Amino acid sequence: MSSDDTLQTSVPTDTETGTGIGAIAPFDAIVSPEAETIADVRGEWWRTAVIYQVYPRSFADSDGDGIGDLRGITSRLDSLADLGVDAVWLSPFMTSPQKDAGYDVSDYCGVDPLFGTLDDFDALRARATQLGLRVIVDLVPNHSSSAHPWFQAALAAGPGSTERGHYTFRDGLGENGELPPNNWESIFGGAAWSRITEVDGTPGQWYLHLFDSSQPDFDWSDPWVREQFLDILRFWLDRGVDGFRVDVAHGLIKADGLPDYTPPAEAGSMGGGLADDLTPPYWGQDGVHEIYRTWREVLDEYDGDRIMVAEAWVEPLSKLANWVRPDEMHQAFNFSYLESGWTATSIRRVIDSSLEVFDSVGAPSTWVLSNHDVVRHASRLALTTENPQGTGIGPKTEGLPDRDLGLARARAATAIMLALPGSVYLYQGEELGLPEAIDLPDDSRQDPTWFRTNGERYGRDGCRVPLPWESASPAFGFNTTGEAWLPQPDDWAPYARDAQVGRVGSTLELYKLALAARDEFDLGSGEIEWLTGYGPSVVAFRNGEITVIANTGDVPVELPIADELLSSVELDGPALPPNATVWLRV
Ligand code: GLC
Repeated sequence: MSSDDTLQTSVPTDTETGTGIGAIAPFDAIVSPEAETIADVRGEWWRTAVIYQVYPRSFADSDGDGIGDLRGITSRLDSLADLGVDAVWLSPFMTSPQKDAGYDVSDYCGVDPLFGTLDDFDALRARATQLGLRVIVDLVPNHSSSAHPWFQAALAAGPGSTERGHYTFRDGLGENGELPPNNWESIFGGAAWSRITEVDGTPGQWYLHLFDSSQPDFDWSDPWVREQFLDILRFWLDRGVDGFRVDVAHGLIKADGLPDYTPPAEAGSMGGGLADDLTPPYWGQDGVHEIYRTWREVLDEYDGDRIMVAEAWVEPLSKLANWVRPDEMHQAFNFSYLESGWTATSIRRVIDSSLEVFDSVGAPSTWVLSNHDVVRHASRLALTTENPQGTGIGPKTEGLPDRDLGLARARAATAIMLALPGSVYLYQGEELGLPEAIDLPDDSRQDPTWFRTNGERYGRDGCRVPLPWESASPAFGFNTTGEAWLPQPDDWAPYARDAQVGRVGSTLELYKLALAARDEFDLGSGEIEWLTGYGPSVVAFRNGEITVIANTGDVPVELPIADELLSSVELDGPALPPNATVWLRV
């Protein structure tokens, strides 16, 4: 039974009611909320930036209720500066009934009391500025929460009203409108349409929700919707954010007439098309570009190089280039890279095509291996079966990963990624080598995917478990009470940050070393030159002074004589073992 079958009729509105600060280090004393945004000292910072995704529910919890919050994030920001990243992207912390962990927004300009207040956000941003970190927030324009006052007004106003026009309502098919308007399926499973009951109690119209039924899709052909989002952009820009991660950026415009569509059996993530000629009627429609051009004009009115990054699951990469033309978004997530797997051929191929495609429009390539929607790469890279975005893994999954193999590959894959030119996205916890939490009890799972598929798909909870900070503290230092909205595996102590700081060879120290060297040798603005002669299972390239050699095969590879700058495994001779990457200075 889905958790979202009942439409919300009320929303929390008191966004100014904060929660008390807990035992995590106070920061008010050292933060001036009036601090300015960072001066633009490095030109277009985003072309080479390493951006760290914070998932607020699971980063750090200052009030001990088991759900992370803004004050918790602020209290731990120094660890991200220490890691060596340039910016943080915060997944949504706006007012929300939390039916999809905050991607169901009921007030785009308010902070959910779970996470704190707008003052807490200002303090977070100010602290980030002190630490030299930029702050990007998540914007969810494809759909709101069904609890949003706009949707509630649409329900109340009736068919044909202006209010209903803000969302995608249609009459049903069949004699009495009892069938959905088309055959589209929700990305989370089940139908993409729900029927409402009109105010007079009669069965009424249907509304579209590409995701959960608590997430009604806007109708972006309505100029009113466009105006609201320009105001929302300005609200956050005025508050000093450095940019936006734009959720489901490929979904805003639907094809005229909403034609039936069945994704092919081999459909890509999010049901996307894989071939050039395959465009689902709800993804990647040309009309989206006009919207982003307008947004770009707004961002360009502001100083300080504010950016937009598209979450657009568009395949192939050549289509994605359209999102990052000079007058549109600055970046788009490179999900083709995330999905390329652990073979030298696929890695070389996706690097080549990424650089070519993004370069063709003057945009930097981006690189990403993990986020809050996919199986963590420390597990995914050792899976023996396909696991598309959102499917997740659990105790009954076939081909479960070997943990040591997964971690070895993850470290090696990260060491390739951090040597590539362009901008990199890291997901919280990957710097600790965290695996996917596979054995979550069924009754703790919260992803709507789990409910909408009756447990057939585990969904994304396994990559969202609260972070371990301290190996010997309650909830591994996530808070002081031991509460956690998703249970942390008992054996996570060795992954805790304090167990890795300063320990030679730990995953945390590997990330730090790589990020420092990336900076020192300007790898982000460099160029790739492929090296040959190492065999078909090896990825080998030079970026400036650094030579990178990665072994995806199953036999050791002989290394040239050179200074070792970093290695994903401890080397005990001039050979690189399987599932390892080394950076050399030749
Ligand atoms: C994006 C988010 C995902 C969310 C979905 C619906 O894909 O990354 O977490 O569930 O959009 O908003």
